[in-house]
Amino acid sequence: MSKNIDHLMHEDRRFPPPAAFAECAVARPELFERAAEDRLQFWADQAKSLVSWHTPFTRVLDWSNPPFATWFDDGTLNVAANCLDRHIDAGLGDRVAFYFEGEPGDRRAVTYGQLTDEVKRMANALESLGVTAGDRVAIYLPHIPEAAAAMLACARIGAPHSVVFGGFSAESLRSRIDDAEATIVITADGGNRKGKVLPLKPIVDAALRATDEQPAQSSVKHVVVVQRCGNEIEWMDERDHWWHELRDEAKPDHVALGFAAEHPLFILYTSGTTGKPKGILHTTGGYLTQAAFTHRNVFDLKPESDVYWCTADVGWITGHSYVVYGPLANGATSVMYEGTPDTPHTGRWWEIVERYGVTQLYTAPTAIRTFMKIGRAVPNEFDLSSLRLLGSVGEPINPEAWMWYHEVIGGGRAPIVDTWWQTETGAIMISALPGITTLKPGSAQSPIPGIAIDIVDDNGTPISTYDGGLLTVTQPWPSMLRGIWGDPGRFIETYWQKFGSAYFAGDGARRDSDGDVWLLGRVDDVMNVSGHRLSTAEIESALVSNPMVAEAAVVGAADDVTGQAVVAFVIIKSSHADGGSPADQSAQLRAHVAQQIGAIARPAKVYLVPELPKTRSGKIMRRLLRDVAEGRPIGDTTTLTDPAILSVINAQVH
Ligand code: WTA
Repeated sequence: MSKNIDHLMHEDRRFPPPAAFAECAVARPELFERAAEDRLQFWADQAKSLVSWHTPFTRVLDWSNPPFATWFDDGTLNVAANCLDRHIDAGLGDRVAFYFEGEPGDRRAVTYGQLTDEVKRMANALESLGVTAGDRVAIYLPHIPEAAAAMLACARIGAPHSVVFGGFSAESLRSRIDDAEATIVITADGGNRKGKVLPLKPIVDAALRATDEQPAQSSVKHVVVVQRCGNEIEWMDERDHWWHELRDEAKPDHVALGFAAEHPLFILYTSGTTGKPKGILHTTGGYLTQAAFTHRNVFDLKPESDVYWCTADVGWITGHSYVVYGPLANGATSVMYEGTPDTPHTGRWWEIVERYGVTQLYTAPTAIRTFMKIGRAVPNEFDLSSLRLLGSVGEPINPEAWMWYHEVIGGGRAPIVDTWWQTETGAIMISALPGITTLKPGSAQSPIPGIAIDIVDDNGTPISTYDGGLLTVTQPWPSMLRGIWGDPGRFIETYWQKFGSAYFAGDGARRDSDGDVWLLGRVDDVMNVSGHRLSTAEIESALVSNPMVAEAAVVGAADDVTGQAVVAFVIIKSSHADGGSPADQSAQLRAHVAQQIGAIARPAKVYLVPELPKTRSGKIMRRLLRDVAEGRPIGDTTTLTDPAILSVINAQVH
């Protein structure tokens, strides 16, 4: 962290708002003033102007039982009707909701009218399969329009969805299905990834099959399958249904009922500091308000003319809030691309920007750094002049990557909004506002209007110097998580125990002399690999589930492209010492983690070591292993039982 701080202290480049954004400058400072005058009234105004209510709310926030907040709780609404029906009523049925582009090159423009029809039919279909309000539906799909339709069909009937990223393994999918007790899984035969078909239905079948570790019976009664790739799949007549058959047989009309503003909208699992992922729970009224507000203001959305593209997969929170709910609530036209950025060629994204005339691009620093490595010649081949705003999310963006993004992709003209937020916060919390903020490469800058944060020391005392501290949110916000599914104790312990009524985000941060916020990375045992959260404990427990492993320690080591890379230190059981060369054994263990959790968790390196550095109380000193992995001088080892072990490990690594 100290290297970061030194580096950032020297960033003095400044980018004032370009003239093209002058009108925002007129419209938006007022937002800060109004929010500062009366924060709750400000959010109530946003909820009234951006969301349509079945029953208007009269109460704004109830914070009488912290950390359990309710927002707009006597109002009722239907999230799907907000994202669809009201745009149809406003005569926008022919507006494109998604310009979809499949990885093999197939293209579809899905209008609001078509999406509404699909969602209404699938809402009827889900009801005919017995789904009622409150039932959980797992969604395990590629990044295709049916994923948005599936989420909205669930929202329409009040059935909370749990989207599981299509790269997770059968085991990960099963544990999420079991935790939420989902009764339906919506999947596809397969998706397209890197020029190949990634089968999904077979993974669902494996997840639902009884094994030694899994109880015979899962909660799942039905599996709905989108036909995407035509790959061969097994079929269980009594359990499996084709999406297109259900849709075609379903009634086209469906009345959207109003649900209470605190009715659950979705659960989304994210890694924490233990082996078990947390099911982050979001509800409807507050979530939709802040998703729509931030999408409109942070991206300066002009729904009539913009073509907005957020590259995140629906499997992550960014896909929920800024591919589906925020953009659709605002009646935006978006691009949705199924595949990887380098398939079939490294200019694929830029070709898409040129083809659709994308105006806003929202992506992650890891993607930008990958493009930097490839070089500017590739994007320079395409016309990117339609881009007028760029966004970044998922991890700190280093100033070099910021400058490259600004110059090469944004032509030096498009402002960059670096947006800090989390699965738990539901929507953007800290970001520059276009047209107002003078940009500083690498800083997320200021909390958005209506959000209150502080940087504190370990005791919760606000930090008055420019030193790094812990980021907290000091006032409840509309799109805040409402809990961890089935585990209120863990909710309190993880986020609230440390600082009472202030939310502890798990991130380090500092303010500079202008008061701008710089994010310094996670302060807990959560890694950030390519903008995705992974927990050291989860990967360690996957490693020790392999019979040859006695003990494992995992750290996130700095990586030029992925931000952090997973590095594992493993002790092999003496009974397996002759079970292959160290290179073979590490390769097996890397594959084992990918099979247990998913390819995103596959360690970049697995080192086989004789011992791990531990304190006298038996705690593994991951900090020292990180020093080793990053090739730094090793920190203080005096608390170790056996300081010599580090030189042994170090010699092995370097
Ligand atoms: C990190 C993604 C620095 C941070 C929306 C946070 C960031 C975690 C930024 C949440 C940013 C996200 N600058 N760090 N602009 N955005 N992070 O839940 O560590 O997948 O706690 O949500 O990503 O990751 P999550």
